[in-house]
Parts: sequence; C-alpha cells; structure tokens
Amino acid sequence: MDVIVETNPQTASQAGTDLLATLIRRKPTLKAVLATGNTPMDMYSRLAALKNAGKIDAGQMTVFQLDAYLDVPDTDPRSLYGWMDRSFIQPMDIPATQVHRFRETSDDPHGDCVRYADTIRASGGFDLAVLGLGPNGHLGFNEPPSAADATTRVVTLTPESIISNAVYWGGIARVPKVSVTVGMDALLASSQIILIATGAHKHDILRRTVEGPVTPDVPSSFLQTAAKVTIITDRAAWEGDR
Ligand code: GLP
Repeated sequence: MDVIVETNPQTASQAGTDLLATLIRRKPTLKAVLATGNTPMDMYSRLAALKNAGKIDAGQMTVFQLDAYLDVPDTDPRSLYGWMDRSFIQPMDIPATQVHRFRETSDDPHGDCVRYADTIRASGGFDLAVLGLGPNGHLGFNEPPSAADATTRVVTLTPESIISNAVYWGGIARVPKVSVTVGMDALLASSQIILIATGAHKHDILRRTVEGPVTPDVPSSFLQTAAKVTIITDRAAWEGDR
C-alpha cells in the first residue's frame, strides 16, 4: 500500500486529483468504479476544473456505479446515481453509453445484481476503483461482515451505516435500509485502488484498515491484500486528534 498523508482535506483532494488526472492521461479508456459520499467531492470538482481548462479529457472513460439505495429513484435527492451524475458524469462529460449502473427500482434486485456483475466481468473488470471509507470499514456498501469474495449483491445496512448516512438525508428515518453494492470480489480485483479518507473521525477505522487484522469484520482491511492500493489521507485521519 502506498500512503499519501497530506496536510488537510483540501491538499488531499488535490493529491487525489493529480493522481486521477495522471491515470486518465495515461489510459484515456480507463474503466473506473467511483464512490459518492462527501470525501471525494472536492477531488471530483478539482478534476472537473482541469477538464474545463482543457487540461484533461475524460470523454473516453467508462464509469461504473459503486452502490445504490434500493427503491430510490434517480429524481430523489438521496439517489446515489443522481449524486454521481451531478458530481462526476456530467461535469466530466462522460457519454451515457459509457456509464454502467444499478437499476435502483426493480422487481428483481437480486437478478439485477447478478447481471451487473456479469457486465463488470464482461468488460474485463476495473482499471481503477475510487473508494471512500465507511465508519465501520465498509467499501461501497459492503457492510461488515463482508469476505474478500463477497459478490455484487443486495445488502441490508447496519445500524452504524444508517446513523452515519443520516446526516446526508436529514434524519435516521429517511435513510433507506437496503442497498446494492459492487462486491468485494470485483473491487479487490481492480488493477488500482485509490482510497480517500480524511478527518479525525476516520482515524480509528483508517488504522484498522491499514494495520489491523485482515478480517470480514473490517471489509476495508482486505485492501492490505489487493494488488495496488494508494491511500490518500490527511494528518487528522492518519495521526488522530493529537
Ligand atoms: C457511504 C457510501 C460509500 C462511501 C462511504 C464514506 O455510506 N456507501 O460509498 O464511500 O459511505 O462516505 P463519506 O465520504 O461521506 O465519509
């Protein structure tokens, strides 16, 4: 694992932007699965600024949705696809034909997950996974316990995730309880993984991610076993509140 410890969340975002820009320039047809959540948003904005300045062209990229709440339509402000669309797909001008996604409302979510996993496999897997870090070590919505071979699937959220996501949606009652997520299997097989985690509130789980035992109880700890992982963090998350 490479670890980049920046001074603050802004410089961490810039480091992430520089790395993403390098990867897109190196391979314009990059196939990437991308997290929503608050942490990567500044990085995506900075990348869009580079694109608007003509310094990068992401028009050949293929983007895969990482996770979604079930039965939340795109028009709902809680839709994770809607969030990804606003924060990355539109600003980066990714053509709709190069976007793969979960169906968020479906009569057959289990079958949809199998079909989505097939789509990922058929495309040859991910060149890049950009991930955030859940407070319980979830990656996407791979909630603990999630083994390294956990597949793309329907997941019931843990109480901890419901509480942590309540800030986005104005209270616990408004957080959907069931989600779908790209599996640990596809994420860990990605040629490269960037994990971005900033702020003192991520300190404990970041430490357990990088140096704790590798265990399904902390799904992010499996990153210790992945091929190429870059962790982008800041002092508060890396060192804690000292
Ligand atoms: C959410 C999402 C993840 C995200 C993580 C961290 O629940 N399912 O995809 O990476 O939690 O979010 P944040 O960056 O807001 O801390």
